[in-house]
Amino acid sequence: MTDVSLDAAAKKTLLRKIPHGLFICGVAEAEEVNGFTASWVTQGSFEPPLVVMAVRADSTSNGMIRRTGRFSLNVLRADQKDLAAVFFKPQAAVGGRFDAAPFRLGPLGLPILEDGLGGVECELVGTVDHGDHTVFVGEVKSATLLREGDALELAGTGWQYGG
Ligand SMILES: Cc1cc2nc3c(=O)[nH]c(=O)nc-3n(C[C@H](O)[C@H](O)[C@H](O)COP(=O)(O)O)c2cc1C
Repeated sequence: MTDVSLDAAAKKTLLRKIPHGLFICGVAEAEEVNGFTASWVTQGSFEPPLVVMAVRADSTSNGMIRRTGRFSLNVLRADQKDLAAVFFKPQAAVGGRFDAAPFRLGPLGLPILEDGLGGVECELVGTVDHGDHTVFVGEVKSATLLREGDALELAGTGWQYGG
């Protein structure tokens, strides 16, 4: 690799300019469901439809995605900032996070939040292990649109995740 010195402050400022949404990623393994707030999400291909998501290497959900090979992505309404906050705090899923968010299981058995704009279910087709997050690539297999509306975005929440 090329040996250049990285300007850490410039790197942080520039990477924080990348616009992000805020999503609830859902996972399910045997009888256990979990969900967490994810902002590092983007589309990766039209055909087949792919999404790309980076997941903390040491999180509970990371292992569940690896073992099951699937995950859902729920798009939140613009006024659901409080729900996004529930899903990034460390606590149990059922009897904790999901008490604030009723859900159904989609065709692939993954949580789709009833109160959001909708969600897609994905099968894992690629994994990059390099760094403190794992980059997962998922092929979109199901899409449930529950309502129309604006989606929650990271900008304007006052939160930072990036840099
Ligand atoms: C604004 C914000 C954005 C976040 N985005 C991500 C993300 O893209 N990927 C990720 O792995 N964690 C992200 N997190 C952290 C997770 O939501 C958090 O670590 C969660 O507790 C993980 O849950 P789990 O350990 O039950 O899987 C974000 C947190 C905040 C506050």
